Amino acid sequence: MKIFLDTANLKEIQELVSWGVVDGVTTNPTLLSREEGDPHELLVQICETVQGPVSAEVVATDTEGMIREGRELASLHPHIVVKIPMTVEGLQATRVLSGEGIRVNMTLIFTPLQALLAAKAGARFLSPFLGRLDDIATPALDMLSDLVTLMENYEFETEILVASVRHPIHVLEAARMGADIVTVPPKVLRQLVKHPLTDIGLEKFLEDWKKVQERLGQPA
Ligand code: E4P
Repeated sequence: MKIFLDTANLKEIQELVSWGVVDGVTTNPTLLSREEGDPHELLVQICETVQGPVSAEVVATDTEGMIREGRELASLHPHIVVKIPMTVEGLQATRVLSGEGIRVNMTLIFTPLQALLAAKAGARFLSPFLGRLDDIATPALDMLSDLVTLMENYEFETEILVASVRHPIHVLEAARMGADIVTVPPKVLRQLVKHPLTDIGLEKFLEDWKKVQERLGQPA
């Protein structure tokens, strides 16, 4: 399973990419609104930091506007994937952009059938949102499971990019279902590394090794 970072914060991206487990980045207008400076320049800097797809979302809502903006975003850097919302206009724009060889990540997907339509329109990535469904007491993991089954039934050239991830259980379950990609906020990636028994175990190993050094008269 590939891991993308769900943030537009360059400092966080630089630090977490150095861990060697990050395969891409997803942004959205909300995430970009939290950062300083020109969003297009920031997207280019993000693209130069991560060796993989970087999703940049259109803000137009009409078909022509989405196509125009999608082309502009795609021209910023070869890593850019154009994020298009799951609407009728979004499907139309996806069909046109994917026909031009521009990779589309269809976003704001909340049902398996929306995902099926997005795949049919030529989306390269499908972004089902988990957290926002859980927020309204709708079991997001059941939806994801159906979506994965549905995609397995056909041979679309598309990857399931699990989004709106709020905690490690979302990541675990997405991996159990065989989702292709999970995009995680920096906080969740940090949570994945930590385990109290790892910390306790390391402390004990170092403590015991100190005893060996003392016995041999070596400096710690
Ligand atoms: C990424 O592609 C999505 O825009 C993002 O995961 C949404 O997350 P949120 O529901 O926590 O805002």
